[in-house]
Amino acid sequence: MRGALAIMVLSLAACSAKPAARSPAAIAADAAAAAPSDARLARLYDGSCRACHALPESGAPLTHDRRAWDQRWAQGEATLLEHTISGYNGMPAGGQCFACTAEDHRALIAFMAGRGE
Ligand code: HEC
Repeated sequence: MRGALAIMVLSLAACSAKPAARSPAAIAADAAAAAPSDARLARLYDGSCRACHALPESGAPLTHDRRAWDQRWAQGEATLLEHTISGYNGMPAGGQCFACTAEDHRALIAFMAGRGE
């Protein structure tokens, strides 16, 4: 009797295991390893965005985490750029990148969202 119960519990546990969502650890590892291929952008990214967007505890959508970016990307690039330049909740104005031009910001957003660079 006890054996049958153990088997039931085990098979229930197996059923509830969902396949193939990327684990938070894998997403964080990807974000930590990602860097723009352009040297100037890579320098700007390292000096600002990276401090939050490669750190899960920051609450920022992580670099190359498509699931985190999909809804944000759907707002359109103009809105994302405007939120970046003006700040947005925990996101500081300009992303603390004082050397960034609007074009740098646009490229960095596309890079982080996995849509470019
Ligand atoms: C001090 C931490 C910090 C830094 C540095 C930072 N961000 Fe963010 N960013 C955040 C947080 C937190 C959010 C999530 C804000 C929210 O949705 O409440 C965010 C969100 C965003 C968003 C999404 C806005 C939206 O409308 O959904 C964009 C785009 C963005 N950041 C771009 C950048 C860029 C580009 C840089 C570098 C130039 C940068 N961030 C640097 C913390 C940071």
